[in-house]
Amino acid sequence: MHHDIDATFASHLDTLRTRTDAALARHGFDGLAIYSGSPPYAFLDGQPYPYLVNPHFKHWVPVTDAPDCFVVHVPGAQPRLVYFQPADYWHRPPQLPGGAWQQAYDIHGVRDVAAARELLGLGRGRFAFIGEWQPEFEDWGFAAVNPQAVIAHLHYARAVKTPYELACMRQASRLAARGHVAARDAFLGGGSEYDTHMAYCAAAGVREEELPYGNIVAFNEGGAVLHYQHLERGRGGPRRSFLIDAGAQVRGYASDITRTWSGGDAGFTDLVAAMDALQQRLCAGIVAGRDYRDVHLEAHREIGALLHSTGIVHCDAETAVAERVSSVFFPHGIGHLLGLQVHDVAGLAADATGTREIPRPDGHPYLRLTRSLEPGFVVTVEPGIYFIDLLLDEARADGRGRHIDWTAVERLKPFGGIRIEDDVACTASARQILTHRLPRPPAQIESGMST
Ligand code: GLY
Ligand code: MN
Ligand code: MN
Repeated sequence: MHHDIDATFASHLDTLRTRTDAALARHGFDGLAIYSGSPPYAFLDGQPYPYLVNPHFKHWVPVTDAPDCFVVHVPGAQPRLVYFQPADYWHRPPQLPGGAWQQAYDIHGVRDVAAARELLGLGRGRFAFIGEWQPEFEDWGFAAVNPQAVIAHLHYARAVKTPYELACMRQASRLAARGHVAARDAFLGGGSEYDTHMAYCAAAGVREEELPYGNIVAFNEGGAVLHYQHLERGRGGPRRSFLIDAGAQVRGYASDITRTWSGGDAGFTDLVAAMDALQQRLCAGIVAGRDYRDVHLEAHREIGALLHSTGIVHCDAETAVAERVSSVFFPHGIGHLLGLQVHDVAGLAADATGTREIPRPDGHPYLRLTRSLEPGFVVTVEPGIYFIDLLLDEARADGRGRHIDWTAVERLKPFGGIRIEDDVACTASARQILTHRLPRPPAQIESGMST
């Protein structure tokens, strides 16, 4: 698998160069310097915030832990990596990861910023800078700082993943799969939310700071908090349900996966199984040419039908969607682009200019992707049903409550909610679920579900 990643890097870089050359030519630049970033310091403190690399930088090089570095690209020339390794006896200086990617680069280590400036060769023409701007760059001679038109062009193109990126994301899914299996076993074995989270990290082989987003590890009612961030440490409480939304990263590429497990209640177990089947039908609809807004609206119809068939609402699916009753229980988008960022960029962009957006369907303000699917897109598919007091109260107040069976809602509230999320690559011929080797309810560890 690392072989795939190594073997495909050169063509990944060719694709990036071609895309970038087009963006630079269109907007009148001769070169591009991408700055990896520098973590700011906490107020009145000597500690920096966690370092999060500029996504444009890790697009070019698989380096995610090295501040103050530059990638320099000039069309027609070998790309250069200016690698900052300070003389520092307090920390271990960052070290470049090995691998075939290094052969593609002209790599220079530097110990100070002045040396970096020399190596950028800014005198060669009009250079665009992309990254977090630092005051010390003021007189270096960049022609533009984060030019929006160039960034929009690169962001739009980035939705289509290269084979290298797909290989990284498959590996990120494999790591997360190990964590998900361990987390489910920790839950079933009596661990607390905290224990379960730690079991996930240990099995995936990651420190918390290496996760692509903070793990969502929620028992019982916590599942109704979409981005539940608390980790309860007590072990003794009830264990009715368990929702875990957790991923991993490989070379800066993320996976984003959710499973929900029942603690044993037969009604809730059936609801999870029905949601799982529903989610797999939606995954089957990830095909090139499909408007992703249709996937979202189909999810609402499916969820409306499930709410009706399980007696949670009285109205049929069509009414549930038309009158925004499905939104009471499913208040987020069906998914998003995934890649260098968990919610990857340009999901609404109508084209590469960055001037036009494809609107979300009326009444669906949280959908993050409105583009039509193309081969190479990686998207999540993450339908859910939640029992959220805030939204239930609103529905009760605005009349939608007449469609809701409040007895059923009261019975299900203690289970919090259900979300099932997989990462799906759209290809020219068939979808590929990247998140294989993950257990699905009912437990089927290592059954393999790629298609
Ligand atoms: N983990 C955040 C999301 O699913 O979008
Ligand atoms: Mn997620
Ligand atoms: Mn997601």
